[in-house]
Amino acid sequence: MLIEQISGNIGAEISDVDLANVTTDEVEKIKKAWLDHKVLVFRNQHITVEEHIAFGRKFGELEIHPFARGGHVGLGDYPEILRIASNPEKEFAAVIWHSDVTWREEPSLGSILRGVVIPETGGDTCFASAAAAYELLPGSVKSQIDDLYAIHDFTKSIGEKFTNEERAELQEKYPPVRHPVVRTHPETGERSIYTNGYHTDYIEGVSPEESEKLLALLEKAIMSPTVQFRLKWEVDTFVMWDNRSSQHAVAADFYPNERVVERVTIIGDRPF
Ligand code: OGA
Ligand code: MN
Repeated sequence: MLIEQISGNIGAEISDVDLANVTTDEVEKIKKAWLDHKVLVFRNQHITVEEHIAFGRKFGELEIHPFARGGHVGLGDYPEILRIASNPEKEFAAVIWHSDVTWREEPSLGSILRGVVIPETGGDTCFASAAAAYELLPGSVKSQIDDLYAIHDFTKSIGEKFTNEERAELQEKYPPVRHPVVRTHPETGERSIYTNGYHTDYIEGVSPEESEKLLALLEKAIMSPTVQFRLKWEVDTFVMWDNRSSQHAVAADFYPNERVVERVTIIGDRPF
């Protein structure tokens, strides 16, 4: 197994491994590389849907999305697979920087995404190290945000996809949640920015103006090329990212072409 770093702060490409037949030793190496690099890329993995699911289970229990809709559908017999299909009628690719489902009390730990239908050009996914973005903040900003909490709410990001009635029902099940603005990684101890432009509503305990200002500043830190790499997809490229220490966004430059990816998602725990 060969591990090659992709950029200075995030990402590694792993080759010489078959995701359908990983040994215990390889899984341990992948787990370590995942913590070290936050995002791992595997190319030309011509594996089945079952093998994708089985590979995901090596890293934890899999999440079934509570209310995936439209272009986000479970695949028939495989509710663990979230299929994100985008075309001009259904623009589902997430173009705003985020980490996944932060509106949950226990947002997922990470995801493993497969390229299924890849446009000839465009549709790259950009990844940012939320740990490097935090580390590079001025000390005065760090001390200002270190003990703050923010409110995350699905109605801010994906609420529009529902009728008022459906939304009200979902809001009862998934009310706004409170997470630290800076979370500590449970395995590495690293501190990372944990607000995002997609699901975060506001920062608690400061004025609305200050909240807006801080959220914009943190989003700008995530958007710095210094903390990023950009993934060019091919069919059967697999990428696994750590939602606790990274964020991602898709380039919406592939329409009117189709783009389809399939994800398995690993259940996480409560951020602290
Ligand atoms: C996701 C997501 C990225 C992509 O699966 O959580 O944001 O490249 N998708 O489609
Ligand atoms: Mn996402």
